[in-house]
Amino acid sequence: METTCTAAAAPGAIPVLGHVPRLLRDPLGFWGTLPSYGDLVTVRVGTIRAVVVCTPELTRHVLLNDKIFDKGGLAYDVARPILGNGLGTCPHSQHRRQRRLIQPAFNPQRLPGYSRVIARRAAAVVDAWQPGQAVDVLTEMTAITTHALAETVLGTALAADVHAELTENVNLIVLQSLRRIILPDVINNFPLPANLRYNRATARVKQIAHGIITERRRAGSTDHDDMLSMLLATTDFDGGSLSDAELVDQIMTFFFAGIETTAVTLSWALRLLSDHPDIQDQLHAEVDQVLTGDPVDHLPELVLTARIINEALRLYPPTWLLTRIASTDTELGGHPIAAGTTVVFSSYLIHRRPDEHPNAQRFDPDRWNTPPGRHAYVPFGGGARKCIGEGFALAEATLVLATIARRWRLAPIPSQRGRILPGGTIRPKGLRLRAIARSSS
Ligand code: HEM
Repeated sequence: METTCTAAAAPGAIPVLGHVPRLLRDPLGFWGTLPSYGDLVTVRVGTIRAVVVCTPELTRHVLLNDKIFDKGGLAYDVARPILGNGLGTCPHSQHRRQRRLIQPAFNPQRLPGYSRVIARRAAAVVDAWQPGQAVDVLTEMTAITTHALAETVLGTALAADVHAELTENVNLIVLQSLRRIILPDVINNFPLPANLRYNRATARVKQIAHGIITERRRAGSTDHDDMLSMLLATTDFDGGSLSDAELVDQIMTFFFAGIETTAVTLSWALRLLSDHPDIQDQLHAEVDQVLTGDPVDHLPELVLTARIINEALRLYPPTWLLTRIASTDTELGGHPIAAGTTVVFSSYLIHRRPDEHPNAQRFDPDRWNTPPGRHAYVPFGGGARKCIGEGFALAEATLVLATIARRWRLAPIPSQRGRILPGGTIRPKGLRLRAIARSSS
């Protein structure tokens, strides 16, 4: 097949670096311009030419054809040294086996048990806030999601020092990941202090995961209510199970897929609410009415709370930029795509298309009275590689938001509104909100 892609090229590429300076300066702004050049647009990251899909239909096509558009490309080249061959990074050829082995840990019947852990962890963090405190939102949300995930995955709470180390290292890796996607290997592999810190952080997180598995195997008991027990006990049709190396990769995958993503979602939801006091009032009315006993029993009744999470995920989808690699010559939107081509898709770009989401830039939980087309809302991806933790994440985000709303009103602090920082996720950097105790609580 002809190797030249006939899709429109995004303007502004400079020799050697291509679009790297624009991507480093203003990645979201640059990304937002791409649909104006066509449904399929090429960008250049150094010497690599990548094809960006700009419509919901083409995104869906890429997601559903996971054998042709296999895991790979810039985002996964960066993730693989950290996540190895875990469920999120393994190629199509290994995916079905892994997904089958891991699925029991995410069985919906286990959700109430996980939700109880989440609700307890959320209350512990939120109850420690003081009236008038300027809450460092992302740090606090990360504390909840790290504790909740560590306990649901590993069973017992991590020792405080290990927890702090884990959070710090995961943070460092996630923050550096966008630069590592954009910058060439020669810079990423150079022994610069930042690269050395990144390598040390990766090694340490793996070491922690390894230690936990070894300890659990030594103890010999798999009779716990946590995900690791499920993974240790699970067997395939042929009696095969996950090796220690595979288990480390899965735990690393859960840490990276499940902590930052939900913390960022909650942080944006809180900022959006602080900017829309009328909607925050409605949320308070809902939680006051619904949460009369154990919040876990009332999860399905938290309708507005769930819609606020949906809206936060639409406006600020954490995994905003993902890649695939064409495993064979194919075509996309009428354009030839050669084997080996990097294909990029972005939920951020799809979620802000005004033709799919009227007043796309506006925070409007009521738009969920009529949900958007399936193709136009993809915060959890789609097809066979769709997020296995979707149910967990939505339950977690809804419960945490309701737990906060029950006790606190959050008000903006003009000098600390935070700015949008795209990295491995889209973070609200520097966001602090004032916690005001609610009189009804
Ligand atoms: C708001 C929170 C979350 C968001 C926005 C999110 C988003 C996503 C997306 C977009 C994918 C697909 C990636 C791709 O197609 O390349 C994915 C996959 C995955 N997610 Fe999540 N995720 C979230 C929470 C979680 C949680 C809590 C867990 C685990 C506890 C988790 C575990 C995974 C795993 C293991 C995969 C790989 C699935 C596979 O390839 O079969 N995620 N996630």
